[in-house]
Amino acid sequence: RDDVFKKLVAHCKEYGFVFPSSEIYDGLGAVYDYGPNGVELKNNIKKYWWDSMVLLHENVVGLDSAIFMHPTTWKASGHVDAFNDPLIDNKDSKKRYRADVLIEDLMAKIEAKITKETEKARKKFGDDFDEAKFRATNPRVKANQEKLDEIHNRFVKALNDNDLKELRQIILDYDVVCPVSGSKNWTDVRQFNLMFSTEVGSTAEGASKIYLRPETAQGIFVNFLNVQKTGRMKLPFGIAQIGKAFRNEIVARQFIFRMREFEQMEMQFFVRPGEEMKWFDYWKNMRMKWHKALDMGDEKYRFHDHDKLAHYANAATDVEFEMPFGFKEVEGIHSRTDFDLSQHQQYSGKKMQYFDPELNKSYVPYVIETSIGVDRMFLSILAGAYTEEEVPDKDGKTGETRVVLKLPPVLAPVKLAVLPLVRKDGLPEKALKIVDQFKFDFNCRYEEKDSIGKRYRRQDAIGTPYCITVDHQTLKDDTVTIRYRDTMEQERVKIEQLYDIITKKVSL
Ligand code: GAP
Repeated sequence: RDDVFKKLVAHCKEYGFVFPSSEIYDGLGAVYDYGPNGVELKNNIKKYWWDSMVLLHENVVGLDSAIFMHPTTWKASGHVDAFNDPLIDNKDSKKRYRADVLIEDLMAKIEAKITKETEKARKKFGDDFDEAKFRATNPRVKANQEKLDEIHNRFVKALNDNDLKELRQIILDYDVVCPVSGSKNWTDVRQFNLMFSTEVGSTAEGASKIYLRPETAQGIFVNFLNVQKTGRMKLPFGIAQIGKAFRNEIVARQFIFRMREFEQMEMQFFVRPGEEMKWFDYWKNMRMKWHKALDMGDEKYRFHDHDKLAHYANAATDVEFEMPFGFKEVEGIHSRTDFDLSQHQQYSGKKMQYFDPELNKSYVPYVIETSIGVDRMFLSILAGAYTEEEVPDKDGKTGETRVVLKLPPVLAPVKLAVLPLVRKDGLPEKALKIVDQFKFDFNCRYEEKDSIGKRYRRQDAIGTPYCITVDHQTLKDDTVTIRYRDTMEQERVKIEQLYDIITKKVSL
């Protein structure tokens, strides 16, 4: 799995999807740039989200609020006081870790032991295997399960009580070692705020500290009444926004999974108090359907309900995707109560209430939030799409291996590659005419260098669902050979059929 992940990272660089930021200066930790194919994929993800949220829901409207906000916003939202990670240092290696991540890794290791033991027994007993009975009776599995439950309970309690001493104690009690030095010599755990800050104004006129937003959501909350009143919106309704967010992540790892500068697609759905659980379930289902509609394989997705709720939530679940390094959060769905609007009402002194004409009264609405990281979605899609497969040669025997990105066509950076068979006899001119014909409908790429086989491989590697070859027959009868990425099948079709064949697959 590690191996696949390394290959994926290398592939992203080689094919112009993702580069380390300022690479000529050896990069900047947890910051990345998107290359020509990456930016197309990223834009397609954003469009796929935006269209399904804003165009397909008549009661969801868009917003684009600024990254910088009045500093009191973050006091009111709780981020100044509560948006912290618990950090711990190893005294020997001088390396810094998140205490919660060390404990999560410890639990994952114990869980892996249980799974390994269970799978071994399943193989041994075959069809007769009774997993529940095995887990309840095998002494090693039972002991590990008890240990896991104990750590889990202590961990959840420590997080909820914000008990930093107890977090350290768990690390000591279970002999967690520093992954670098192998030492168990740990410092105390302390809180570290994740917000980046900078100064606005010159020092002469009195500069003041402002933050780079750690979530886009607050821009939506502070504009709640602007949008509601100008759009004459009636509850329930939602506001959707896509934009950059910044967090000073200490454990920066796994490529674009955890970044310091990233992009979020968030939607706040305002509802009547008391109706929030109904809408929480509604959006939970809708979001899972949206993910699964991409046909990456239903088994790659699951929900993970939260043990520890963020400071603003009364219910929360994650949509997880099976990455090469295990099931990981891609999206969070939170029931945020009236926490944010009430806080802003209190700190700003302005009413954040909605007058409900049906109930004939005013109240602060409750909020269901769906929040997904563009970059994380990007990684999940690439991880799910990356495929290495043996390609049979002409005699049907196994030949070379091809790398193909089996991207959902709607997200693929290039939809159609147009390839003249040779660089003469008027074929390039004809091919370019076809590009001109379709370039306003979907992203087309013209390629004339190298053999057709090599050009197909290059398109496979960036996930282009359709390639057409323009040959001498094309000049006579306006037909081309279309080649399908996943099956590698080819057929002869009329140029005029291409629009229907391609748009059927590449639109929402
Ligand atoms: N407004 C709620 C909120 O921000 P979150 O669970 O902290 O909730 C939501 O973040 C989503 O944003 C995550 O599910 C993830 O996809 C993305 N995200 C959060 N931190 C990230 C980071 N450091 N790098 C990349 N994506 C991140």
